Amino acid sequence: MHIGILTGGGDCPGLNAVIRAVTLSLINECGARVTGIERGFLGLLTRASRPLDAGTVAGILAEGGTILGTHNKCDPFHFFGSGGADCSAEAIAYVNELGLDALVAIGGDGTMAIAHKFEAMGLPVVGVPKTIDNDLYCTERTFGFDSAVAVVAEALDRLATTGRSHGRVMIAETMGRYAGWIALEGGMAGGADVILIPEIPFSVQAVAERCRERESRGLPTIISIAEGAMPEGGGMTVQRTIADSPDPLRLGGVGNWLQQQLEPLVECEVRTTLLGHIQRGGSPTPFDRVLATRFGYHAAQLVEAGQYGRMVALQGDAVVSVPIAEVAGKNRLVPREHEMVRAARGIGVALGEA
Ligand code: F6P
Repeated sequence: MHIGILTGGGDCPGLNAVIRAVTLSLINECGARVTGIERGFLGLLTRASRPLDAGTVAGILAEGGTILGTHNKCDPFHFFGSGGADCSAEAIAYVNELGLDALVAIGGDGTMAIAHKFEAMGLPVVGVPKTIDNDLYCTERTFGFDSAVAVVAEALDRLATTGRSHGRVMIAETMGRYAGWIALEGGMAGGADVILIPEIPFSVQAVAERCRERESRGLPTIISIAEGAMPEGGGMTVQRTIADSPDPLRLGGVGNWLQQQLEPLVECEVRTTLLGHIQRGGSPTPFDRVLATRFGYHAAQLVEAGQYGRMVALQGDAVVSVPIAEVAGKNRLVPREHEMVRAARGIGVALGEA
């Protein structure tokens, strides 16, 4: 048996832990040969791959990023390198040339959508969900999320001490794309006073009121705001990510935008920190190392059992698998009445509603 592994989309902590677990499980339990495809689906088109074995995956468990490299814009069905042409047949040709029996695709919604299309062309695929955003369908957790939340929590702890010293409003803008999971959980872990997420449009007046009320008690205000958060009634165009937003209001990110809105409405000074790619870099937390290892082992088991077209997932405490077709191209947002949202409100955190 000869299996290919690739990592697609943006990197995140825990990718190497999955690569290691898939490789070791396939070698130990099936005697399989394993090949790593470099830079995600791009490697299938540029014909870039290398063998993986116990030696090449040794010592990578705690390493951030991906030893295989990745590419977040490569879709072989609309290949940027060929003016958007469908180059999927070339990718399949390389798979056949390598003699791969199946592919393990580790990635987010975009990677799963591409994997699903390859599956339909007859390439056996198993998916492993990855993203710091935690927004993949059918899984309660993606690895990488816990590591990102840890970064946000530490950042808020640090912003709180400097904010307290100066009596300022401190805004921390988190990643998360359309979803507010990182801002919400990171905000709760870091003791934020205001948490603003895309799923609950915020009122600038309500946020300013909370800041003024805290100011009157001599307290700083710590705001955790997701990059996709937006004010009530629009005023900003909803975009997929800040990075690809053509809206000039958002060029500096929604955190900077909020700072500009708040400054005339509060007495104290306001400062903004864009946490950016710091949330995606570095070593995975122990939770993510274990989840990634469990996901990798389970993916290898699906391969061994010939159960293709499935993505591993965490449901409750169990690692299960779901059809990739159910996941492809969908996002899991924070429900407005999620238990964590209610808990945040319950302890007095403002969600920005009027
Ligand atoms: O999906 C993961 C993510 O980190 C988002 O949270 C963020 O909006 C985006 O990727 C950033 O992408 P890039 O690395 O292309 O700037």
